[in-house]
Amino acid sequence: MTKFPKEFLWGGATAANQIEGGFDQDGRGLSISDITTAGSLSEKRKITYIDQNGKPGEVVALAGRNNIPHGAQGAVLENKFYPNQLGVDFYHHYQEDIRLLAEMGFKVFRMSISWSRIFPNGNEEKPNRAGLDFYRKVFQELHKYNIEPLVTISHYDDPLYISQKYHDWSDRKMIDLYVHYAETLFKEYKGLVHRWITFNEINAPLLMLTFDEDASDSDYQHAYQKLHYQFVASAIAVKMAHEIDPQNIVGNMICGTTNYPATPDPKDILLARHKWEQLIFYSSDVQAKGMYPSFAIRLWKDHDVQLDITQNDLEKIKNGTVDLYTFSYYHSTLATTHKIQDQVSGNFATGAKNPYLKYSEWGWATDPIGLQYFLEIIYDCYHLPMMIVENGLGAKDNIENGEVHDNYRIEYYRDHIKAMKDAINDGVDLIGYTTWACIDEVSAGTGQMSKRYGLIYVDRDDEGRGSLKRIPKDSFYWYKKVIASNGENLD
Ligand code: BG6
Repeated sequence: MTKFPKEFLWGGATAANQIEGGFDQDGRGLSISDITTAGSLSEKRKITYIDQNGKPGEVVALAGRNNIPHGAQGAVLENKFYPNQLGVDFYHHYQEDIRLLAEMGFKVFRMSISWSRIFPNGNEEKPNRAGLDFYRKVFQELHKYNIEPLVTISHYDDPLYISQKYHDWSDRKMIDLYVHYAETLFKEYKGLVHRWITFNEINAPLLMLTFDEDASDSDYQHAYQKLHYQFVASAIAVKMAHEIDPQNIVGNMICGTTNYPATPDPKDILLARHKWEQLIFYSSDVQAKGMYPSFAIRLWKDHDVQLDITQNDLEKIKNGTVDLYTFSYYHSTLATTHKIQDQVSGNFATGAKNPYLKYSEWGWATDPIGLQYFLEIIYDCYHLPMMIVENGLGAKDNIENGEVHDNYRIEYYRDHIKAMKDAINDGVDLIGYTTWACIDEVSAGTGQMSKRYGLIYVDRDDEGRGSLKRIPKDSFYWYKKVIASNGENLD
């Protein structure tokens, strides 16, 4: 029987913009998530702005992307509710929260740093000391319990100022700003943090376009150019992290959706293969192999994309490959060239409904075998140690006599952990797993609190009301047993 490696990193994951709150505290600047409204399953989240004539407006939010019309200025509007400004107030509850993570026996805690807490506008020369100090305290608190931080440098919350000025990474200047930010973190937290992720779900801009039927060639131009600048920024950061501290381990982060063909029609098989190329391998090859794949030329041609890529960029990419392949996994999706009878949409994915799978209230398929499949395909391609840094079930929870009985979540985790074991059995070098999330947080996609992912319940509702009391769910006690037995006891 395969066992998890002795040093397996069990833990949970979060993102600053979804848990911290304190959006206007201690010199923090506004980020793109602070001007993103609440939504729901039926209503898309919006980014709000003031246009050239001083009139308020809004545009559909696209996972951290700044798509505010040219000439308008992103703004917080009166009478609108912005859930990420509040999160679950980790900013003031971090000690209590980390104590609970320690009680579960966490070995690792994935969190992100809010760029605008360190550089309020994103382009300052000197960092905001209060922001740096906050994260130092968080890291020290984690170390108190022997929990290792795994830090995402950028997780869907670019500072609003630079995001506007440089049109959401349309300008190469963003590379320097990101590198300066990353260098500041590597130097400041040398010895406190050894595991880093450069960008959360770097492939998201491409995933979002396949989601959007109206996406134009110019949307693809923007997405591929943004990605190129981020690839270069990431590669420079990887090299720098190693130079500053040879103990640093740096990972990429891919939104890992498993694409299956919906029918045996060879056209569907080829379509599924092409989806893997565009949505997974394109970004993975650049970050893990240090080069663009051969099919990149076809992908660019498809949308008449002309990129600003220099020889120097390609050198940087070659010399800045990641040490670790990290990814999020929530579900699989079906690709088909045939008419879809029953359409479903999940995390940046849309396609035909799979009759063999169960779907959550938000339309996300539960498919643990898809996780095993993803692990095996990717390990075979890149031969890098792998870590699943997000996986979980968004569901409504009920409190009964002060307790949350979330058996559905336990079942979800149990099946995915079994699939991880099977992948290890098949030779995959899987070194860790951080559940999404460990504590309830604001949903990135819908802005809801009621789409809960935590092992710890937080008393806050979709309108931002509640006592913020933390309540360990049944899954909390279950996961504690899993960690204590290093994945042996899944009952
Ligand atoms: C991932 C993101 O794509 O999915 C997280 O990295 C996000 O930030 C998670 O929260 C779950 O998605 P959602 O939309 O249900 O919050």
